[in-house]
Amino acid sequence: MSKLAINGGTPVRETLLNGGFPGAMVYGEEEAKAVYEVCMAQSPFRYYGPNVLGKVDQFEEAFAKRMGVKHVLGVTSCTAGLVVALKAAGIGPGHKVIVPACTFLATAGAVICAGAVPVFADVDDTQNIDPKAIGGLVDQYTKAVIAVPLLGSPCQMDEVVKEAKKYNLIVIEDVAQSMGSSLNGKPMGTWGDIGVYSMQMNKILTTGEGGVVVTNNDELYERAVRYHDQGQYRKVEGRLTNNPDRVFVGQNYRMSELTGAVACVQLSKLDDIIAKMKRNKAILKNELKDVPGLTFRRIIDDEGDAASSLMMFVESKEKSDAFCQAMWAENVAFNSLYGGRPVYMIPQIFYKKTADANGFPFNQFDEEIVYTEDMCPNAISVMPRNVFTYIDPTFTEKDLEDIVTAVKKVAAEIL
Ligand SMILES: Cc1ncc(COP(=O)(O)O)c(C=O)c1O
Repeated sequence: MSKLAINGGTPVRETLLNGGFPGAMVYGEEEAKAVYEVCMAQSPFRYYGPNVLGKVDQFEEAFAKRMGVKHVLGVTSCTAGLVVALKAAGIGPGHKVIVPACTFLATAGAVICAGAVPVFADVDDTQNIDPKAIGGLVDQYTKAVIAVPLLGSPCQMDEVVKEAKKYNLIVIEDVAQSMGSSLNGKPMGTWGDIGVYSMQMNKILTTGEGGVVVTNNDELYERAVRYHDQGQYRKVEGRLTNNPDRVFVGQNYRMSELTGAVACVQLSKLDDIIAKMKRNKAILKNELKDVPGLTFRRIIDDEGDAASSLMMFVESKEKSDAFCQAMWAENVAFNSLYGGRPVYMIPQIFYKKTADANGFPFNQFDEEIVYTEDMCPNAISVMPRNVFTYIDPTFTEKDLEDIVTAVKKVAAEIL
């Protein structure tokens, strides 16, 4: 094997291969034309203007059809959508919400921004929430559980829903990273009471920023619409003429027509993006299946995997760090997801730092809320050993070959 680039050898590639922008990589004339149309109509706001084209409405309708869900609401981001979902479900101060140990900061952050407090469930060998961890976390304050299919790959949602029912918990799905993934043919985001997706830059579809809330529940939908639009339900009651029995103070998380226009075009590309990523991932997995020192993350439903990443495990945190550094030197980006740390180890969560006075919302309970490093032992033992690369739909045969060559080269020296 040739000398590693990190030790002065020649890198496998001359230029860096760093995926992670599936939707953005397939931007083209269609997205530009959609934005142009909205500009020429001089109507970038969804609810009124000289010539509203109804792009957000069209997106919501198409998304409902694609996911097989009754109600869809476009919002400004997934973080906003999570707050909307929590508020739609009536969750706030004095409540606890179960959140998986492996997720992005925003899942736990949205719970806190809604005025509730996250408690953390361990993950199983899929790196997604362990349904068996839910029951042990429930107390009189617990109202909901948020499941997060990480990096494109589905959660065991049948089991999560079953467990949640036992304890009367609302099920929210944070599908930010995994739009289009599914379990047994049923899309992630549609298993629980309410699902939320992201269209931020490094998501499977992107509008730069953007989010989507879905539900089959009429009451949750109405409350979501109201929370995202200052308490109004314009399509039913008009502007600022709301039924005093139904209103409450909300926020502004409305999706713009510019976002809606791009979202329509991106959605039409979703299945093609996923098909290409699946093909690329299958090639990589086949070529890398026998590399000593590397084991693949367990995927519970290969058909339902959106395949936007390939995650593997090595023997130790030290090897994970060394592997990633050596891969970057070969110009093939590999990282350790979230630095190998559970989300609750991020300082703003671990030290309960909020923008509010007196430690709100952590001060709403009889007992002190305490987070400890070892509270999710599986996450603590497994996460530090992860390495992963993103998979883009536009990777070429040569890109895939380079990934395989670099992984084999680095693994032979480092693992
Ligand atoms: C699991 C998860 N939840 C929520 C978010 C937040 O999404 P957004 O940036 O659209 O607010 C992200 C973004 O990376 C995420 O990965």
